[in-house]
Amino acid sequence: MTTYDLALIGFGGVNRTLAEIVHDRGEALRAELGFGLRIVAITDLRLGSLMKAEGIDLAMALHLGHGETFADHGGSKDTNNESVIRNCTADIVCEATFTNPEDGEPAVSHVRWALESGKSVCTTNKGPVALRGPELEKLAEENGVRFEFEGAVMSGTPVIRLAKQMFAGLAINGFEGILNGTSNYVLGRMEAGLDLASAISEAQELGYAEANPSADIEGYDVQLKVLILANELLGAGITLQDVSREGLSSVSSADIEKAPAQGMRWKLIGSARKKSDGTVTASVKPVALPMDHGLAGISGATNAVSFGTDLLGPVTVSGPGAGRVETAYALLSDIIAIHAAKKVPSHA
Ligand code: HSE
Repeated sequence: MTTYDLALIGFGGVNRTLAEIVHDRGEALRAELGFGLRIVAITDLRLGSLMKAEGIDLAMALHLGHGETFADHGGSKDTNNESVIRNCTADIVCEATFTNPEDGEPAVSHVRWALESGKSVCTTNKGPVALRGPELEKLAEENGVRFEFEGAVMSGTPVIRLAKQMFAGLAINGFEGILNGTSNYVLGRMEAGLDLASAISEAQELGYAEANPSADIEGYDVQLKVLILANELLGAGITLQDVSREGLSSVSSADIEKAPAQGMRWKLIGSARKKSDGTVTASVKPVALPMDHGLAGISGATNAVSFGTDLLGPVTVSGPGAGRVETAYALLSDIIAIHAAKKVPSHA
C-alpha cells in the first residue's frame, strides 16, 4: 500500500495537530483512504529540526519535555528550512509557518524550495497563494507535483476545492462572504453592547484573533482571502491593490448596536464580481445587510461564502474559518487531493 512521507515545516498548533491525527488515526485513515502517512522531517523555530527517513517517533515529538529540543533526539537546534526541505525524503511538504502579508515570506520560499526539489506542497498560509499563487502553481506543474492550499481560506471548510471541482460546468460570476471569524464575532458582541476593545480581547482569549488583531478588524485578512478566491475561482488575474479595503473602524459602535432595531445587521463582507467584459471588481467593506439576507444569520466565528452561479443561482457554504483542528484537517484534505491526483512519487 502507498505511504506518503511528510515534512512538517512549522510545529505550532496546526502541524502539531496534523501529527496528532497521523499518530492517533493513522491506521484508521489507512483503512479508509487506502494510503499511509509517515512523518520524516519536522522543523520549528523553537524546537530545531529533525529528519528520520524511517519515520519520526511522534509520541516523542509531541511530548518533548520542558526545555527539550530536537537536538536531544538526534536532530539539530538549528532550523535550516532550506536544507531540510530540499534534502529530506518527504513526498509532501506541509507548510504552516508564519507568513508576512507584505511579501508572503518566509512561506513563499518554503513552498518554492519544496516544489523545486520535486515535492508536493500543502499550505495553510494565505501569503504564498495570494501573492505568488500563479507563479507557484506554474512551478508545481513544471516539476510534476501539486500545490494545494485549501486551508488558506475558511480553514478546512472545503470552499476552494468545492468550487474548482464540484462546480465544473457552471460559470461562477462572483461571490460574497464572511471570511473572517474574529471580525464577525466582534460585530456580534458589539451588537450586544460591548465596545470594540473589549470585544477584540474576548476574541483573543478565545484564540480567534490574529496576533495583530487589526489584520482581522481592518479587513487585511479578508483582502488576502478575496484575492485568493477571485484569482483561483474567477480567473481574475488581479493583485492586492485591486481589492479595495475598508475595515470595521469605518462604522460607529452606535450604528452597529442600533442596526437590528432597523431590521439590519452589519457584516464585514468580502466580495468579487465578474463584469460582462470579463474583468473582476473586488472589495472588503462593512455592509448593513437586511435580516433576511443569507449571510445576516451567520454568527460568532463562523464563516460563510455564497457563490453566484449561472445554472444553480447562489450556492452558499458555511463552516469554521479558523481553529487548529479545523485547519489541520485542511492539510489532510490537501494530502487526500494529492493522492487523488496521483502526481507524487510514493513509497510502496
Ligand atoms: N484570524 C482569522 C479569523 C483566522 O479570525 O478568521 C485565520 O484566517
